[in-house]
Amino acid sequence: MTTGKFISLEGIDGAGKSTHLNPIAEWVRARGHEVLVTREPGGTPLGESLRQLLLHQSMDPDTEALVMFAARREHVLKVIAPALQRGAWVISDRYTDASFAYQGGGRGVSLAHLSYLESWVEGGVRPHLTLLFDLDPIEARKRVLKGTPHPDRFEREQDAFFNQVRAAYLARAAAEPRRFHILDSSQTPETIFAQVCLALEGLTR
Ligand code: TMP
Repeated sequence: MTTGKFISLEGIDGAGKSTHLNPIAEWVRARGHEVLVTREPGGTPLGESLRQLLLHQSMDPDTEALVMFAARREHVLKVIAPALQRGAWVISDRYTDASFAYQGGGRGVSLAHLSYLESWVEGGVRPHLTLLFDLDPIEARKRVLKGTPHPDRFEREQDAFFNQVRAAYLARAAAEPRRFHILDSSQTPETIFAQVCLALEGLTR
């Protein structure tokens, strides 16, 4: 059976990952592959409804983690796994690493609980490549304030929260250096995209 490739984009709010989503999709499409661009939380009708709750309704950190993973289960079953099975390349704006970074690092949810949910919910559907857009939270906040008139519940968090989120992302990357590709987001978008292309080339070999 042909299976496609799964790429996830990660980073703290304001790190600039979404800027690269469509150029990455174009790069893959130009090489003749079907591309599916999606996001988390979201990616299915139920997931998008849960996204609205997650971004705007305050809730307990464990509840938040469980709802993130509930949305993810729908996404994996209904969208990601079928696309990979038909040979498409799936590009997701965030996936499970975000739960380890935001709920684990940011909110202090038990990593053992998150690891259990990870293996239950993913069912072996793991990214082949994770692009981590890394940026100092102070710089990232400036970008969020410039581009977002109505920040959501995560975007309104303080620098200390984002320092923890960033550290948790970097810890995940250190634990899985083959899957992660860290990009220094303080560079120009052109320089970053050139580095993204090199990482994508690695997937085609
Ligand atoms: P976005 O703004 O990149 O679309 O993501 C929405 C927010 O959701 C972002 O602030 C990070 C947060 N988030 C988590 O806290 N845990 C998760 O597992 C995911 C996927 C996103």
